[in-house]
Amino acid sequence: MEKKNLKFYIIKFINILYKIYKLFYYKKKIINLRKKILNYNYKYHVLNSSNILDYQYDKLFSKLEKLENLYPYLKNKYSPTKLVGARYKSLIFFKKIYHNIPMLSLNNVFHKNDLFKKFFLPINKIINKSNFCCELKFDGIAINLLYNNGILISAATRGDGFIGENIIKNILKIKNIPHVLKGENFPKILEIRGEIFITKKNFKKLNEQKFGKYKVFSNTRSAAYGILKINKCINKKIFNLLNFYGYGIGFTDKIIFLNQQEVLTKLECFGIPISKYTKVYYSYDKIINFYKYFKKNRNLLPYNIDGIVIKINNIKKQNILGYTNHAPKWAIAYKFPSQEKLTLLKKIIFQIGRTGVITPIANFNTVNINGVNINFATLYNINEIKRLNLKIGDYIVIQRCGDVIPKVTNVIINKKLLKKRISISIPKLCPSCNSILKKTLNNILYCTAGLSCKDQLKAYLKHFISRDVININFIGEKLINKLVDKNLIKNAIDLLNLNSNVLSQIDNLGNKSINKILQSLQDKQKVTFNKFLFSLGIPEMGIVTCYHISLFFKTLEKFLNTNLTELRSIKNIGKKTSLNIFNFINKQNNINIIKNLLKKIKIIYPKNILKKNYFYQKKITITGKFIFITRFNLVKKLIILGAIINNYISKKTDILILGTNTTSSKLLKATKLNIKMINENKIISLFQKYK
Ligand code: IVH
Repeated sequence: MEKKNLKFYIIKFINILYKIYKLFYYKKKIINLRKKILNYNYKYHVLNSSNILDYQYDKLFSKLEKLENLYPYLKNKYSPTKLVGARYKSLIFFKKIYHNIPMLSLNNVFHKNDLFKKFFLPINKIINKSNFCCELKFDGIAINLLYNNGILISAATRGDGFIGENIIKNILKIKNIPHVLKGENFPKILEIRGEIFITKKNFKKLNEQKFGKYKVFSNTRSAAYGILKINKCINKKIFNLLNFYGYGIGFTDKIIFLNQQEVLTKLECFGIPISKYTKVYYSYDKIINFYKYFKKNRNLLPYNIDGIVIKINNIKKQNILGYTNHAPKWAIAYKFPSQEKLTLLKKIIFQIGRTGVITPIANFNTVNINGVNINFATLYNINEIKRLNLKIGDYIVIQRCGDVIPKVTNVIINKKLLKKRISISIPKLCPSCNSILKKTLNNILYCTAGLSCKDQLKAYLKHFISRDVININFIGEKLINKLVDKNLIKNAIDLLNLNSNVLSQIDNLGNKSINKILQSLQDKQKVTFNKFLFSLGIPEMGIVTCYHISLFFKTLEKFLNTNLTELRSIKNIGKKTSLNIFNFINKQNNINIIKNLLKKIKIIYPKNILKKNYFYQKKITITGKFIFITRFNLVKKLIILGAIINNYISKKTDILILGTNTTSSKLLKATKLNIKMINENKIISLFQKYK
């Protein structure tokens, strides 16, 4: 009996010991996680230099939340799960400001199941099902604007949620934030909350140092923050790069809003810019579709978003649900999966384009971003390698947005591996043909060998057969590679003159395929004049330039007999392009090529452009980004309908086609000149008419 008792106590004792051990083990783990997260918070919110990817941060955060829920007695009010961002640190330049109502954060979910489990289900237990206001989640900096009697008197960053920094001086320089509210019906005191962000286009301009030498920013969010924190500034125009959208209110007197949608429309009446993509839905399916739609099309928006925000529309219901210390219970951020991944840079490949320009391409350990395996990304030009201080062996951040070519956005240098970093040597000779490489004034490398360089020839022929040029079906990129590698073709004419003798020398090409290819090459290819010009591959001559040139000269003969003065007189054609054209048409070899091409190509001149349509001969300028149509296709369609596309607004402009950019200078000028404007919906309905 005693023995049995002893055994029982020993087991109990061991059990207790094990529990104590587990408690200490997890306590240590929790403390370490908190330290790590607080450190990241500090870097993100205070120093504005994050060295962790969003999704990795979110993983750490939810790990901590899970552990804290498992061991509630280890909870602590100073845990990052209870705080909003980093604790306030006194800042040197900006005065602190206490928020009248705390500026909280939002809870996040990444998956549909979590959205139901953590948001819809708990809500349904407390209130009847209601309408939800679905908004975009702008990836910028939250600010609070305080209007007193309609006059903007202070502007504060979120800081730690309770105390922020007064950045009014810089906010006053942002164009789309009104200094005075519109109308008369605004409350005496009104705090407006919203996001400051930078568009992708402006971000590019900033990093190209077009506004003076500022630090190079790795993402749009840190760029917006960086500009907001500028203390002494030489070029005030830098603030024109910022935009603002209001998405809510903080403290206010008197006025009562019934729902979130009304808040937004009232803000708009007061002159506050708001997003036009907000929608109110009752059905969950529609909310999910809204999310899916923007997940798919987010790269078409002019600014970055990292998810959607779902808010209960009715404000009474919002108040019933209330807040945690950290976030409202009536709203949630349903975030998009990360479009960024961290990986190891293995080598750089120098790729030769169709006009000889060399593009460095990063080759890295394969990463899967949103279901696609990637191991190559563009680095644009050699300047980018220097800008990123890139070396082999570095960890690089790869970003892939929709169908856009993946790019390297950031480099994370592992200090432990510092010695193992290998410098990237920029080639002096062409990696394909060994000829000496030259550099333009902007440091762009190019191969001067022309089509005698095999890689250049391959790239040119791929351009030549593509849909927007000659459009030859049945000849693919692989076949072109094989034909060039075997020295079976030396130019586009050889390609158009392919015969069964040549084609039978290619491995794995059956009779059926050979016949199809020969059949597609049998008749003369019919090509519009502008596409023919595009097929010549003259440097700097893109699809739009070719179109302008085709309209100006009308015939190939006139084009070939032009001179520099005439070329320079053409609107929209720059110095460099005219010189390239002039050099091209003055080389006997090129004239011979054109003559031979004409044996297999019939040029169609613009006379068969559809007449009597809304766009015919109208001078059209385009601004902003489009959701349902790419800009390339928009231009192409307008050209087919006979429109004249310009890149500027003048008195003579007939129409401004307006995308989603609300702050473009073209828009302002067009408003001044009273020029007709049409939006994307209208343009699409007009295109349908002339299909
Ligand atoms: S509502 C109580 N709406 O996301 C918090 N926030 O992760 C109410 N954000 O600090 C915020 N777009 O800076 C709201 N449409 C939107 C938003 C949005 C971006 C930011 C905001 C907030 C952060 C939370």
